[in-house]
Amino acid sequence: MSDTAYLNGEFLPLEKAQVSVLDRGFIFGDGVYEVIPVYSRRPFRLPEHLRRLQRSLDAIRLANPMTDAEWARLVQEIVARHAGEDQSVYLQVTRGAAKRDHAFPKNVAPTVFMMSNPLVTPSREQVESGATAVTATDFRWLRCDVKVTSLLANCLLRQRAVDAGADEVVMFRDGYLTEGSSSNVFAVKNGTLLAPPKNHLVLPGITYDVVLELAAMKKVPTETREIAEDEVRGADELWLTSSSKEVLAITRLDGKPVGAGKPGALFRTLYQAFQEFKRTVMRQAA
Ligand code: PDD
Repeated sequence: MSDTAYLNGEFLPLEKAQVSVLDRGFIFGDGVYEVIPVYSRRPFRLPEHLRRLQRSLDAIRLANPMTDAEWARLVQEIVARHAGEDQSVYLQVTRGAAKRDHAFPKNVAPTVFMMSNPLVTPSREQVESGATAVTATDFRWLRCDVKVTSLLANCLLRQRAVDAGADEVVMFRDGYLTEGSSSNVFAVKNGTLLAPPKNHLVLPGITYDVVLELAAMKKVPTETREIAEDEVRGADELWLTSSSKEVLAITRLDGKPVGAGKPGALFRTLYQAFQEFKRTVMRQAA
């Protein structure tokens, strides 16, 4: 099957999908996006992703070009046009193509783009060994709760991790934990799961919510509050979560072992709960 994309009302081969150089997504990074994991051809937590999309569109003052039912149909359609059982659907809405001017253009149609890639979740070995991370100062803007396509700061921060031979950055702003370049971060201390609050400094992750729901189901004591840098450095466990990483332990931070230097007991509980939950949800959707 050739790789199919959706662009402004039509499905076409990905390499044929082209937008204007004047597209505000290209010129200003003026757009929002979502990444939706698909397991066994079924989108995971689609209503939640579409709710977050609406929230992002509201935040950048762009009208939603489609209803949730239309989005759901399009997501199903792009999934059907791809071969893999597990996919990662990317969708993006920009403010469209217009003469370059910072102020919003009038009467311009938004650009709607969608593609699907194979969903690559961590391998068994990665889950067993955990990820490595380096710390960095969070120098992004003050609306990190909005899923915007202008990701230059996130790219620069991720590249820092890559340059240091690590998988992800763990960021601090004013001495408190925010998140990773493309993931949320949790800490564990003395059996309590610590989660940074969902405010303007972090993306409200869909996986973050799932993890907190599962922690409640498993009766894991949880505190949602600001987490100081020294608490992160002294944590028994650190985890990162995202639609593609699911739940993954961070076992080295700035070259030093996190806790015992291997995925911890609470991680194992939540990882298993996550896998079970996925299977149950997929069975119910079948
Ligand atoms: N990133 N924080 C940031 C900055 C992110 O970019 C992401 C996701 C998350 C986790 O959100 P979720 O659980 O809804 O995937 C947190 C996506 C996957 C990306 O940009 O590719």
